[in-house]
Amino acid sequence: MRLDRFVSETTELTRSLAKRAIMRAEVCVNGEPEKRAARQLNADDTVTWNGELLALVGKRYLMLNKPTGIECSARRGLYPRTIDLIDLPKVERLNPVGRLDVDSSGLILMTDDGQWLHRITSPKKAHPKVYLATLAHPLSGSEAEEAIAAFAEGVALDGDELPTRPAELVMLDDYHARLTITEGRYHQVRRMFAAIGNHVEALHRTLVGPLELGDLAEGDWRELTEQEVASF
Ligand code: URA
Repeated sequence: MRLDRFVSETTELTRSLAKRAIMRAEVCVNGEPEKRAARQLNADDTVTWNGELLALVGKRYLMLNKPTGIECSARRGLYPRTIDLIDLPKVERLNPVGRLDVDSSGLILMTDDGQWLHRITSPKKAHPKVYLATLAHPLSGSEAEEAIAAFAEGVALDGDELPTRPAELVMLDDYHARLTITEGRYHQVRRMFAAIGNHVEALHRTLVGPLELGDLAEGDWRELTEQEVASF
């Protein structure tokens, strides 16, 4: 790999800032200042920038407990973004795996590994996702039974050609539901409850595939273990 690319991959510097740092002799290869940005590095070369040893990091895999009011977007908009909560170099390379609405909270996976992301979001895989929903209107008795049956069967969503895949609805009490779905359509959970005449006031995701949020505090993130990464 070229020296300027290596420096930009391993620091906050863009490629052109890396070139400038190299020109200013801030970068050493094997202890000697190196001013040739195009120098090709060997596997055993050591590179420092202002005395700090630089090393390539592998692909990164994280889980975040997204608070409400945070957007799953790479672009700056009205709200802070998920990557703004993560204090890591080159954080803009991390993409959310799927989406959670700005008004929803809970488990969101983040990665810079496009193949892994695709493996999880591909509709063919049908990984379960579990949501806790707080409802605006009570749902109990025969009405709850009907909702459970309708979701198990699949409901028609406004504007979608196909009904939803079978989903499991469990009423925790009259206002709180646990819903397991295996798709990731736009605003799916909110639209499913709208389809049965209710309204979701709060939505929190606790599980994606084999991974559970557990006791990760709101706004916190952690790296996934190798086993967790391989579990998809
Ligand atoms: N379904 C929704 O309606 N919103 C989300 O954020 C996720 C699933």
